[in-house]
Amino acid sequence: MKILGIETSCDETAAAVVELSSNGKSCKLLSNVVSSSMDLHAVYGGVVPEIAARSHIESILPVIDQALKDAFYSHPSSVISHQSKNKEQATGDLRLATQSDLWDQIDGVAVTYGAGLGGSLLIGVITARTLSTIKNKPLYGINHVEAHLYSNFITEQRAKSREQSSYQLLKQVPVFPILGLIVSGGHTQLVLFKDHFNYKLLGQTHDDAIGEAFDKVAKMLGLPYPGGPSIAESAKKGNPLAYDFPKSKLSSKYDFSFSGIKTAVLRTAQAEIGEDYAFPSHKLPDRLSEAQKANIAASFQSVAIETIVDKTVAAYEEFNPKSVIVGGGVAANKELREQLAKRLPIALKFQDIKLMGDNGAMVAALGCYKSSLKQQPSDPYKLDIFPNLSM
Ligand code: KG4
Ligand code: ZN
Repeated sequence: MKILGIETSCDETAAAVVELSSNGKSCKLLSNVVSSSMDLHAVYGGVVPEIAARSHIESILPVIDQALKDAFYSHPSSVISHQSKNKEQATGDLRLATQSDLWDQIDGVAVTYGAGLGGSLLIGVITARTLSTIKNKPLYGINHVEAHLYSNFITEQRAKSREQSSYQLLKQVPVFPILGLIVSGGHTQLVLFKDHFNYKLLGQTHDDAIGEAFDKVAKMLGLPYPGGPSIAESAKKGNPLAYDFPKSKLSSKYDFSFSGIKTAVLRTAQAEIGEDYAFPSHKLPDRLSEAQKANIAASFQSVAIETIVDKTVAAYEEFNPKSVIVGGGVAANKELREQLAKRLPIALKFQDIKLMGDNGAMVAALGCYKSSLKQQPSDPYKLDIFPNLSM
């Protein structure tokens, strides 16, 4: 079974083809194409929804086309840049994206229908509904957050090119019961899976997602977007014990909150330069020294990550899962990996970093299980977007 996965929930336009193994247990990556509009947002310090949606319109057909070609032709390419496309190419790609010899090999279309930015989700969903209808393939609406965890079920790849064989995939699929940690720009959740499609949401953030907190703190320090990697880089030069930032205290054991630490960072930065709470945050970067920025970055990172790890370890101790898996862009964070490795009693393996951020492969992988485990397909005339979809 081969599923085409389409992902457009934020600023990445992505498509991939994933094949389910004959025993139905693991997935094989046949192609994975991601076109990011991140560079267009960087100047604004965050994703601009209208720009993201417009960029999806330009990229979606060339990206799908590339994913189909990479999956079935002998010389696959790889990541394409949105800058490399032009109108003629997009028209040509429309022809290819509808080519029947490639589509004959596809058994279904999976698409992210939530959570995400409304305008962005709409482009992926409308495209998938159209392709599903004209190609007569079942359509699977996919929850983006759930999909992040399903990147951990991809253990094989089509090794036809240097680029594709460079994935460092997990060697084995996780074993149920699974404790899943999702840490991204939009989500921070702990989920316990008894089996496929049988899960319980243990906890989630009440306000900012962890990645969002990294992005906002980076902005206060004048570090470039996306803030996660910038904070991690700056933190290398700082002292994680320089400031004693607070951990959130919530009544529900597995819920998260990052607004308090964000405010604490702001107040600390203002105090460091001898100003009070009225001093505007956008003027902080000019007044803080590099050493102060690095110390704030290191102290923030250490406490924010420790909050995540504390709750993951507590959930592990309470529910005793056979596997722990992590998904989402913040899973790239070295501090998170190190703290989890140190404190969890099982050896934690991480999926290839290229499958941690938003991608079509995770969507296709979840689509494979939906199809093989006889989950109800979505109606291609009705599937709607769901920007606030929860698990
Ligand atoms: O999963 P993702 O690619 O997109 C969403 O679904 O949100 O996650 C993006 C988030 C951004 O907030 C980015 O700052 C964060 O992941 N991120 C990191 C690191 N790399 C990316 N956060 C901390 N440390 C990193 N190394
Ligand atoms: Zn995501």
